[in-house]
Amino acid sequence: MFKTLLLWLFGSFLLLQAIQIDIPEAPEILNPDNEIKAPDKIMSMLRTSCYDCHSYKTKMPWYGHISPISLEVKSHIKNGRSAVNFQEWGTYSEERKQKIYKGIVKTINYRMPMPMYLTLHEQADLTKEERNTIKKWAQSHIRETYY
Ligand code: HEC
Repeated sequence: MFKTLLLWLFGSFLLLQAIQIDIPEAPEILNPDNEIKAPDKIMSMLRTSCYDCHSYKTKMPWYGHISPISLEVKSHIKNGRSAVNFQEWGTYSEERKQKIYKGIVKTINYRMPMPMYLTLHEQADLTKEERNTIKKWAQSHIRETYY
């Protein structure tokens, strides 16, 4: 009885692996000039805390390939990149950049990096001070006063 149940569970788990979503590979020709330019301090924070979802430089953990976790993880990457890909920055219109800077100011204290992600990537967490540094940097690029 118990054995049958285990077999069923294992079988379902295997079947589940057939459900996968693909995250697109980085394009073969990626212009390095299009990467966002910011002071080193900011760049290094973006790279450690944002690039897994907001660039092509995703470091995928092993469980990121196992369904159903992979469905969640890959959808974050897909949606994260489409919200902003810091390696495609140079291709964005000024209007889009402004929207993103405002988005950073709005999300850096609570929503970004995603709290769920941080539970498994402690090294990507940012202190309050670091968040403020990013916020100030983003604010300094916002043209109009908008609040
Ligand atoms: C685990 C993946 C993940 C990480 C890490 C992450 N993001 Fe995101 N980000 C997303 C996803 C998914 C979205 C789109 C859905 C949403 O807005 O919640 C998004 C949206 C955004 C947006 C647009 C939000 C808006 O409402 O305008 C900004 C700006 C942003 N992220 C900035 C950052 C910054 C800055 C970092 C690093 C400090 C970061 N993100 C780290 C997944 C991530």
